[in-house]
Amino acid sequence: MNKGLKETFYHKFGEEPKLIVQSPGRVNIIGEHTDYNDGFVLPMAIDRHIRVAFRPRDDKKIKLESIGFDSDANFSINDSTYIGDWSDYVRSISWVLKKNNFDIKGWEGVMVSNIPIGAGLSSSASLLMAILKVFSVISKFPWDGMEMAKLARQAENEFLQLKSGIMDQLICSIGRVGHALLLDCRDLSLDFVTIPPNVKIIILDTVTRRELVDSKYNERVKQCALAATYFGYNSLRDISIGHFLKNKEGLDQLLLKRARHVIYENQRTIEVSEAMKDNDVNRIGRLMSESHQSLKKDYSVSSKELNIMVQIAEKEAGCFGARMTGAGFGGCAIALIDESFKEEFMRNVFNNYFLKTGIKPMIYISSPSSGVRLC
Ligand code: GLA
Repeated sequence: MNKGLKETFYHKFGEEPKLIVQSPGRVNIIGEHTDYNDGFVLPMAIDRHIRVAFRPRDDKKIKLESIGFDSDANFSINDSTYIGDWSDYVRSISWVLKKNNFDIKGWEGVMVSNIPIGAGLSSSASLLMAILKVFSVISKFPWDGMEMAKLARQAENEFLQLKSGIMDQLICSIGRVGHALLLDCRDLSLDFVTIPPNVKIIILDTVTRRELVDSKYNERVKQCALAATYFGYNSLRDISIGHFLKNKEGLDQLLLKRARHVIYENQRTIEVSEAMKDNDVNRIGRLMSESHQSLKKDYSVSSKELNIMVQIAEKEAGCFGARMTGAGFGGCAIALIDESFKEEFMRNVFNNYFLKTGIKPMIYISSPSSGVRLC
């Protein structure tokens, strides 16, 4: 991956790149659609990345070529126009930095990625964090992982108009090798949790891609806010299971399902983090599978292919549990498996998914990796 990047940079600029930023994708082990409800999440950064090789410019221009995309990002720092292609992610970061009074400088470079787009592995947050890191190196402002993730979220919420929570930006920012991150999305307190030994998280890409998801995602955000209001709170985070069961009767059926998912998912997320500390992989797997059923039936963000993939994975020997990961509507599932079954698991899931759907899935083993950094 670096080879293509360095070669393209060399062809374009006639010199070797001296600065390369690497930003990871992520999977969420559990805690889905809970972050914008002030709840709990448990993601980990993965060993798939976006890399940007770059150098400073003397003017206020940003020029970024992406290997694999037809168009470039090419704009002046003072231009905050939304233009409707991938370069808006780059523009959103220069916009948010200016909005927060950072003194930013121009740069140019080349980018490459092996994070599939729209697959639920957070290629967007990864790109936002990569661009932010490039700006911080070029403009020499200090890097604070938490503050930078908040800025990237602001860029996504306000410039790109996706009302996402903080999970993706934060894990792409501060992910740690060998660890998942338990995050309380209300006060942003966090705890790095070790993944138990002798198990692997396998990424099962259905190779179906979500489309027009932004409006469905923002609709879920609104439904949750309405449900919280019904219970007399600002956020579903505040509603205990007991309070929910006691007071749910008058709530609209659809909102009830949305609320039920979030309230129980918060509970499952805490339980998984505890089970990780106890190395109780059976319990982790069971909770992951419950999470999938809830996302399918109550939150309605799964898809036919994701359900098939999860069902196939769960039937395999050595699999403790499986679920869709990320926003949903297509993309990837993950499975927690006994490491000694991995070859057989991957082979059988590939064959069975292909048999059922006619689609060849992509399957990768994934290790918990570090957040964005210069490499
Ligand atoms: C997307 C959003 C996150 C989170 C997940 C669902 O990845 O960017 O903030 O809401 O969906 O858990």
